[in-house]
Amino acid sequence: MPTCLLLTVWFLLCIPGSLHMVAAQNKIGATTHPDDKKALNSIFTAWKIRASREWNTSGELCSGVAIDDNIFIDDKAYNPFIKCDCTFNNSTICRITALKVYALDVVGPIPPQLWTLIYLTNLNLAQNYLTGSISPAIGNLTRMEWLGIGLNNFSGPIPAEIGTCTKLLKM
Ligand SMILES: *[C@@H]1O[C@H](CO)[C@@H](O)[C@H](O)[C@H]1NC(C)=O
Ligand SMILES: *[C@@H]1O[C@H](CO)[C@@H](O)[C@H](O)[C@H]1NC(C)=O
Ligand SMILES: *[C@@H]1O[C@H](CO)[C@@H](O)[C@H](O)[C@H]1NC(C)=O
Ligand SMILES: *[C@@H]1O[C@H](CO)[C@@H](O)[C@H](O)[C@H]1NC(C)=O
Ligand SMILES: *[C@@H]1O[C@H](CO)[C@@H](O)[C@H](O)[C@H]1NC(C)=O
Repeated sequence: MPTCLLLTVWFLLCIPGSLHMVAAQNKIGATTHPDDKKALNSIFTAWKIRASREWNTSGELCSGVAIDDNIFIDDKAYNPFIKCDCTFNNSTICRITALKVYALDVVGPIPPQLWTLIYLTNLNLAQNYLTGSISPAIGNLTRMEWLGIGLNNFSGPIPAEIGTCTKLLKM
């Protein structure tokens, strides 16, 4: 085993009670915002992973278990996994609010498209082989409440822009 420089950064925050809060959704006719759809498909392509059939029904990412109020992002049965809020634009548009790619042996940098998923409140990329630095664009994820990026192979400091993620109460 080579000696690896393993920079372990854990950002863990649990806001009791609110973690599992999912807004009531009108599922009829709502579709994933094209920007979110494009971003997630690019990220998954770069990381060589795919959505499961349970939440990417007919190519619609915000479908199935991703919009089921009784199934939460940390459900071990689904990984990778997303959750969506489909109440945008009079319940016609869904935005991705949670993304989990946990311990899937994903290799490489975080694709820049990830930082465009600005409705994320919960991001779990922990325990992979992710490399490179964390982009200052993380500061655009101002709704973030729960962030897990530990047990990866990131380099460099945590950008100061993390300070604009004001809903993160603890790092
Ligand atoms: C982690 O980073 C170290 C130092 O850059 C490198 O030697 C090692 O191969 C990396 N490990 C993985 C799994 O990427
Ligand atoms: C979702 O399904 C569509 C159609 O099968 C596919 O093109 C797309 O790559 C899938 N998205 C992900 C993230 O796996
Ligand atoms: C949602 O509504 C806003 C204004 O209310 C509009 O600017 C935007 O284009 C709409 N988005 C979509 C994807 O239809
Ligand atoms: C929202 O959708 C409902 C049901 O389709 C419709 O009655 C209502 O007029 C819509 N509101 C707006 C602001 O578009
Ligand atoms: C944050 O978002 C704004 C508006 O979309 C964009 O102009 C800016 O480049 C983003 N910041 C970073 C660091 O990517």
